[in-house]
Amino acid sequence: MKVHLPVRKAILNRRTYEAPAEGRSDKLRLDFNENTSGCSPAVRRALAKLTAKQLAMYPEYQEPTRRIARHFGVAPEELLLTNGGDDALRVFFDTFVQPSSHILICEPTFPMYRYYAEIYGARISVVRYGSDMDFPLADVIAALHKRPRVLFIANPNNPTGTLLQKDELRRILKAATYTAVVIDEAYAEFSGFSVVKWIDSYPQLFVARTLSKVAGLAALRLGAVIACKKSLALVRRAMPPFPVNLAALVAAEAALKDTAAMNRYVFEVQRLRQWLAMELEKFDVKTYPSAGNFLLAYFGPTGPHLFHKLDKQGILLRERSKDIGPGFVRITIGTQSEMRRLLNTIRKEWRAPA
Ligand SMILES: Cc1ncc(COP(=O)(O)O)c(C=O)c1O
Repeated sequence: MKVHLPVRKAILNRRTYEAPAEGRSDKLRLDFNENTSGCSPAVRRALAKLTAKQLAMYPEYQEPTRRIARHFGVAPEELLLTNGGDDALRVFFDTFVQPSSHILICEPTFPMYRYYAEIYGARISVVRYGSDMDFPLADVIAALHKRPRVLFIANPNNPTGTLLQKDELRRILKAATYTAVVIDEAYAEFSGFSVVKWIDSYPQLFVARTLSKVAGLAALRLGAVIACKKSLALVRRAMPPFPVNLAALVAAEAALKDTAAMNRYVFEVQRLRQWLAMELEKFDVKTYPSAGNFLLAYFGPTGPHLFHKLDKQGILLRERSKDIGPGFVRITIGTQSEMRRLLNTIRKEWRAPA
């Protein structure tokens, strides 16, 4: 039967996004900034207690929202739970973006901002990080004069690791009187800095958070949008009634109670991030200061050959040839023994050009 499906033009114009995330479980996964130590054991205990009756009910959000909001230091009306961090970004398109309205992003960055913009048929204005992965503050402020509907900034930025400071963020917010400013704080815990406390001063400020990284819950999908009550109420209008599943809620609450486990992980990441940078320097590999649970490194022209060899030995890194340049790679900070395995394999397989 011949039919004509009325597909939107924006969809016809794009390809399917296939995350290279299959068959990784037995490998050394330093490619997606996962918490390679795994979640707190308290999460598995809490999940095991779920009953058949609970699983048959539509989830209730009031109590979990109250407790998760308390963790972030905000009121329940200032926090909206989402199906992971990715979904915490999608809601801004549903709320603010119409086909052919324009959004502003700073590349290289997390690809989902561009991904959603393409699906929604938005125009994308791009400013670029500098050659030292420094934030293009002047360009962003100039671009805000054109009143993009949404500005997305990952802070710390993935993959560069760049962290914007208070003054820079204040200047951006002051210039953004016609723009929703989304500060994506997926890695905030590793930087020790957050703008969550600013929501009452800036109605245009929206903070996106996730428990995928710090709490090791990437498989369960729990994210949040935080904003002042009035601004968040607008975003709520675009939400479906049951965006988050019960297992994610139960896991999130158990993980957040085990603050010791999260603090231990953050401390280890901060320690090993510095150590890995020093070790890579001994191979003449350039790294960029990172405030996340990853490190951006430049191995030079022979880098891609090395990454291929590592991949063959089951060591997965995230190559950034396409968006930054050949020889660039993002490395997730794993455990001490994982970092040692990586360095030993690099030592064996790679020689820096003389
Ligand atoms: C900057 C940034 N934001 C958001 C996310 C989404 O996280 P998730 O959907 O796993 O919660 C990621 C994941 O890598 C990220 O790097």
